[in-house]
Amino acid sequence: MLTAIIVGAGHRALAYAHLAEVQPEKLKIVGIADPLPERRKYTRERFGFGEDMCFETAQELAAKGKLADVIINGTMDDQHVDTTIPLLEAGYDVLLEKPFAIHARELAALDEAVKRTGRKVMICHVLRYAPFYVEIKKRLLAGEIGKIMDIQTAEHVSYHHFTMGYVRGKWNNQKECGASSLLAKCCHDIDLITWFMSGIQPEEVDSMGGLKYFTPENAPEGAGEYCLLDCPLVDKCDYSARRMHLDHPTRWTAYVWPQQAYCKELDSDEVREKALKDPSHPYAKCVFKCNNDQPDRQGVVISFANGAVATHNMVGNTARPMRKVHIIGTEGEIEGCFDDNKFVVRHRDLRPGCEYTEEVVDIGNMGDTTGAKGGHGGGDLRLVMDFVEFVEGGKPSISCTQLTDSINGHMIVFAADYALQQKRRIDLAEYFEASKK
Ligand SMILES: NC(=O)c1ccc[n+]([C@@H]2O[C@H](COP(=O)([O-])OP(=O)(O)OC[C@H]3O[C@@H](n4cnc5c(N)ncnc54)[C@H](O)[C@@H]3O)[C@@H](O)[C@H]2O)c1
Repeated sequence: MLTAIIVGAGHRALAYAHLAEVQPEKLKIVGIADPLPERRKYTRERFGFGEDMCFETAQELAAKGKLADVIINGTMDDQHVDTTIPLLEAGYDVLLEKPFAIHARELAALDEAVKRTGRKVMICHVLRYAPFYVEIKKRLLAGEIGKIMDIQTAEHVSYHHFTMGYVRGKWNNQKECGASSLLAKCCHDIDLITWFMSGIQPEEVDSMGGLKYFTPENAPEGAGEYCLLDCPLVDKCDYSARRMHLDHPTRWTAYVWPQQAYCKELDSDEVREKALKDPSHPYAKCVFKCNNDQPDRQGVVISFANGAVATHNMVGNTARPMRKVHIIGTEGEIEGCFDDNKFVVRHRDLRPGCEYTEEVVDIGNMGDTTGAKGGHGGGDLRLVMDFVEFVEGGKPSISCTQLTDSINGHMIVFAADYALQQKRRIDLAEYFEASKK
């Protein structure tokens, strides 16, 4: 059994820590570092450890030396590197949320610290653990579709998810949160592409897109500034804070009503309505008049050293949330939709009257051991189980995302955002060298 300390007790770190409740023989939570007193209290009571194991920051914890086997680091994107390096130096192995860095210099600093300290860092690329993607990866490794020629992925971020996180929410402004919508949302998808490519080096990256819809010019005529304060469309507009967040109080709770999980008395309709009537509440404002700068659409093209090409499209504001994947190889193809939990494997069929064969792989029908359950299609807890196994010296699984496995994916995202800004194609090797200076 490993002992773990939570650093940054937001909903993500607590989701991973849940393994200690369902498999207490594998993991025990023995401490917390978080500046918020209510989060320290909640976590201490939930997992049952003493005040002496509560710290205000990662840095304060690191200064105490090593008090447990591992750290679960669920701080925000722009804090991952600053909080992790002192913990590695104190001797901890770390399960670290994505994106593990917000720019190339940070990425290099963390990579250097991991090499210098010899500690293990695993990145929470939870989708690598979702049975849907694991099964696709197994088919690729078995050579079922030959050599990959082309990968097409897409993430359709729904109207309520996109506006919650990237128009009104805590990732709505890159200058403030440090991460682009592509980095925060799609570092998973780009990671999947590099994972499918099994270490083949990406060479060039290009990207187009931008923020075109959630802007003041597109506000409906007569719209106010704050939905519940001065907007006549509050009961009609699809993005109205009332319709999005009061009529659906349990959707996106961890983001819109983060304190509710820690203080149950805040979980009431009256508290929520009052909050949205306060102009300083992040969800009070009209979606067309927020201080947002995140692209609401972005396409990325990547070329690899073996000639393969990959494309990824992110679009916010879709009716249905969806991730799609289509991989075309020299011998066949795989196409599927994560949200349907099904993919097909196609092969050429030269028999008279035929064109191709199609095997339908229904992950939902594969039984309990493979069936997708829990957060991220079953990926969340599987990832923590693999981390425990990995730290205890087990053989890394096919999904294992050590820091080194995540570097290409993050570099592609940084280069894609740079390509978008510069309006030109980026040579990754040159970009990587330049970013070290
Ligand atoms: N893997 C995924 O699929 C996935 C999904 C959603 C979010 N995330 C990522 O998870 C991370 C956490 O998101 P969240 O919504 O749970 O965040 P959150 O803001 O709810 O939690 C972060 C916590 O870190 C604490 N903190 C701040 N400074 C600290 C310090 N110096 N030392 C210790 N703690 C400190 C904050 O007080 C807060 O409680 C983000 O990086 C986010 O991008 C990942």
